[in-house]
Amino acid sequence: MRVGILTGGGDCPGLNAVIRAVVLSLQAGGHEFVGIERGYLGLIERRLRPLSPELVHDLLDEGGTLLGTHNRCDPFAWQGRDASGEALACLQEAGIEVLVAIGGDGTLTLTERFGRLGLRAVGVPKTIDNDIVGNERSFGFDSAVAVVGNALASLKTTARSHGRVMIVETMGRDAGWIALEGGLAGGADAILIPERPFDLDALAGQLGERVARQGYALVCVAEGATANGSAQHWKQLPGGVARLGGIGQALVDALGPRLPQTEVRHTLLGHLQRGGAPTTFDRVLATRFGVAAAQAITDGVFGITIALQGDRCVRLPLAEVAGRSRPVPADHELLRVAGALGVISS
Ligand code: F6P
Repeated sequence: MRVGILTGGGDCPGLNAVIRAVVLSLQAGGHEFVGIERGYLGLIERRLRPLSPELVHDLLDEGGTLLGTHNRCDPFAWQGRDASGEALACLQEAGIEVLVAIGGDGTLTLTERFGRLGLRAVGVPKTIDNDIVGNERSFGFDSAVAVVGNALASLKTTARSHGRVMIVETMGRDAGWIALEGGLAGGADAILIPERPFDLDALAGQLGERVARQGYALVCVAEGATANGSAQHWKQLPGGVARLGGIGQALVDALGPRLPQTEVRHTLLGHLQRGGAPTTFDRVLATRFGVAAAQAITDGVFGITIALQGDRCVRLPLAEVAGRSRPVPADHELLRVAGALGVISS
């Protein structure tokens, strides 16, 4: 069988490990592999290249994606036209009989839509945000959490030396997973996530008390978090694109007058959270996902995505996952842990 592989959406540590695992675990079956460059855009622009075990065997710990990616290419609405037919024609002409689509909710949603047009595909969930429905842990998330935890630990020395409140703004879109787990890993004194809107005066009181007690305070805030009654912070970028971000600076502005004796500063971690090598956990998880996708192909099971549930890789219909996201549930244990430490509001 000729197997196409693409990576879509934002890059994340572990993508290459999935590609490697798919190719290495299917190679004995005599399959051929075609890499599609820059996600679904590669099918419109016909950017294909052969993949082989020799090309991928060394990719386990390499960040980014060998194939490149694109996070805004929707073939059903691309540059003013429906290019989905062109994408399907490209697959057919290249003799690609099954597609492994590695991506976040956007890519999985597109894959489900192509599936309804006859494409045989297997999805692999990817996102540092950890917000894919039915999937308890995405590869890339652990690597992002490590960046946040280590950043908070590093900032603590400056916070302590200068008696400051230091704020770290994380990614995560509408889900608080990165800030919650990263904040716990880095010993944050306050964790602010979209699922728990916060009260500014209460936060200032809590931080003032921490500064009085320990001489400094650390805040870990998710980009999608909001103060009670306020909207999310968005940045307008050239080309009419808007991205979440700016809550860290907004907190500096709001907390400054409430904590007049204490300097409040912020650090935006940005794409550092998606960069570099995957952690060992993510290398293993990505490898498991790749092998599970290969097994689905061998079994002739399509229209599904791989997901982690408990300690097992399972198959979920793409239709169950498409167009949905997974916030931190109100009864999640990490919320109870953060609550017990007094670092998250109830
Ligand atoms: O979905 C992953 C993510 O990293 C989000 O956490 C973040 O909001 C977004 O992508 C940033 O995307 P970009 O790379 O386009 O700035």
